Amino acid sequence: MPLPKAELHLHIEGTLEPELAFELAARNDVSLPYADTEALRDAYRFTDLQSFLNLYYELMTVLRTERDFADLADAYLARAAAQGVRHAEIFFDPQAHLARGVGMDTVVDGLWRALGTSRERHGVSTRLILCFLRDESAESALATLDAARPHLDRITGVGLDSAEVGHPPAKFREVFEAAAALGLRRVAHAGEEGPPEYITEALDVLGVERIDHGLRCLEDPALVERLARERIPLTLCPLSNVRLRTVDTLADHPLPALLDAGLMCTLNSDDPAYFGGYVGDTFDAVREVLGLDGERLRELARNSFLASFLEDDEELRAR
Ligand code: ADE
Ligand code: ZN
Repeated sequence: MPLPKAELHLHIEGTLEPELAFELAARNDVSLPYADTEALRDAYRFTDLQSFLNLYYELMTVLRTERDFADLADAYLARAAAQGVRHAEIFFDPQAHLARGVGMDTVVDGLWRALGTSRERHGVSTRLILCFLRDESAESALATLDAARPHLDRITGVGLDSAEVGHPPAKFREVFEAAAALGLRRVAHAGEEGPPEYITEALDVLGVERIDHGLRCLEDPALVERLARERIPLTLCPLSNVRLRTVDTLADHPLPALLDAGLMCTLNSDDPAYFGGYVGDTFDAVREVLGLDGERLRELARNSFLASFLEDDEELRAR
């Protein structure tokens, strides 16, 4: 029996497995510049975040209809459930779809077909988090939040992702303020490739409740102390960090140091179709390679529920 856990850092577009990508390409008459799934998998050799994002945005062009988004999310939920996930807070990137002429309705209604029935079908409760692309303009983020207004009953929070360096959190102050005024929860990627200052800015300017990644906090001892004192959760993604070369190998991952510093760490898969494993695989890998014992693993699993946006004690106890 895998350890029951929540997944808090998961880009639904990053769960697009090569087999489903080819199936959707055929269904929608989209041509992919890869001969087959093997040739596509061969292209998964990334040198940094941007080299991954290029492929991530290219491949998501196969997602066109409500049914495509529903199939994508359903495939993720089935896999996650099999690895012990009982609750998933799922990111999506609407700007990447709106830019291709796929409407917000198509994306959210499609995702919701799977998410709205996930509890019954997979035993996994869900939340949806709309991410703004930080390499797009602040105006585009505001327009995206506006386009999402009819769907806010199904959207729990907002996040910030895509190419980090050169796009500091403060660029998105206004849209995060607007999101807060609408009652939305807030998270942001920070300190993945960007400097520790971006983590501080995400907390102080955007008012985020969790930091996605946050690895580079280790360069600033005062920040580490603050994150520990304020119990700010970090949604770590070790397999992603290896594939995107933020760390050299999994054995070099600073997860043990972060835990020893008293930080509230959680384990997540980020873009599992691209990075070689889902969240259960991530738990297995850190146990084997970093030698985390059962107590540490249970702490990580417990943190994932505590750091989640599940609201009342009853809901938490039901997990
Ligand atoms: N979008 C999808 N995966 C991402 C990551 N690891 N960092 C930033 N943006 C992303
Ligand atoms: Zn991410």
